[in-house]
Amino acid sequence: MNMFIERVLSGMRPTGSLHLGHYHGVLKNWIQLQHEYECLFFVADWHALTTHYDNPHLIEQSVWDMVLDWLAAGVDPAHATLFIQSRVPEHAELHLLLSMMTPLGWLERVPTYKDQQEKLTEKDLSTYGFLGYPLLQSADILIYRANQVPVGEDQVPHIEFTREIARRFNHLFGREPGFEEKALLAVKKLGSKKAKLYHELRTRYQEQGDDEALESAKALLNEAQNLSLGDSERLFGYLEGGGKMILAEPRALLTAAAKMPGLDGQKMSKSYHNTISLREDTDSVVKKIRTMPTDPARVRRTDPGDPAKCPVWALHQVYSSEQTKQSVVQGCTSAGIGCIECKQPVIDAVLEEQKPMHERAKPYEEDPTLIRNLIADGCEKARELAQETLRDVREAMGLNYS
Ligand code: TRP
Ligand code: SF4
Repeated sequence: MNMFIERVLSGMRPTGSLHLGHYHGVLKNWIQLQHEYECLFFVADWHALTTHYDNPHLIEQSVWDMVLDWLAAGVDPAHATLFIQSRVPEHAELHLLLSMMTPLGWLERVPTYKDQQEKLTEKDLSTYGFLGYPLLQSADILIYRANQVPVGEDQVPHIEFTREIARRFNHLFGREPGFEEKALLAVKKLGSKKAKLYHELRTRYQEQGDDEALESAKALLNEAQNLSLGDSERLFGYLEGGGKMILAEPRALLTAAAKMPGLDGQKMSKSYHNTISLREDTDSVVKKIRTMPTDPARVRRTDPGDPAKCPVWALHQVYSSEQTKQSVVQGCTSAGIGCIECKQPVIDAVLEEQKPMHERAKPYEEDPTLIRNLIADGCEKARELAQETLRDVREAMGLNYS
């Protein structure tokens, strides 16, 4: 196993049950990532409180349902660490410490801050917690030194912000006394050949801004077996000219914007009341799709229709083979098929997709202690990682008196 396997972290806010839009937009991606990386997925309950502080019961209920939905979808606790944010209080301590050095202007400039305030007018979001939302997210990410963060487009500024926070932190607190000397000693430990190469690459990067040299030097460090963690961090820091790298800058792993259409042709979203939930029962799925609106021009069975004007067609795009789609276009435009007939393959495909989800969910539904236990395990694992980072952060900030 590769020791330097990249770490992926992502969180989801528990504000209601999950639907097929979450599956196609987010969970399918997580499920793939869990086999390729070390993955941490968490329930962002504190984040939910920043916008839903007036309805904590919704959050409480959603937490366990959401984890159950993840498991149903195929997130596998044997491959990914699943936990709840508020059960790892280290996130809060890091958030507090980072808040000391976070310029207010940086937070006010995050686009989601004004957007959400304008959009959610029924809520008072001029709160301290809501302004600090992106910083809490930074703490979530930085506390695990996560390299990659799968998010949607709207969250990319939060990852950018996190990178700036990490840089600022390392710049302010990453200098230990005698850093340069220690770094030079650490270079020697690479062995003379690699040490020479490291110096060359560092010079090329620092004097000519050669990114390739930077990447090669990083690869060299990643492969070096005999370095202590401290020396390894010093060498990464020395390479880029800063101090010791205490917090790692993450990258956004942009999830291809799978816009899952809802029952009315708009994007599937709880606020449009056009969803099919992940574990919706069969009868309800059938009924919802059977009663979906179709091309309004098809009043009678004998009227030809235009798939482009029909929400059912949007679902065929997600679920149907080329062949089925061809026969839909042919049948619809010539009034050769009726809408009920046209909907059947979509119904079948959705039920087929959900079948394994119901099966995976069953043991957890029957015995709720299973979920409680696997989350307890996940929280414990996450805490260990979080405590390690926090130790370094406290030390760097001069808070390790004992
Ligand atoms: N802000 C994210 C969202 O609304 C949820 C979230 C919280 C998150 N902390 C995170 C996502 C850390 C990725 C990493 O979707
Ligand atoms: Fe929509 Fe299919 Fe009816 Fe055409 S036949 S209007 S595509 S449901």
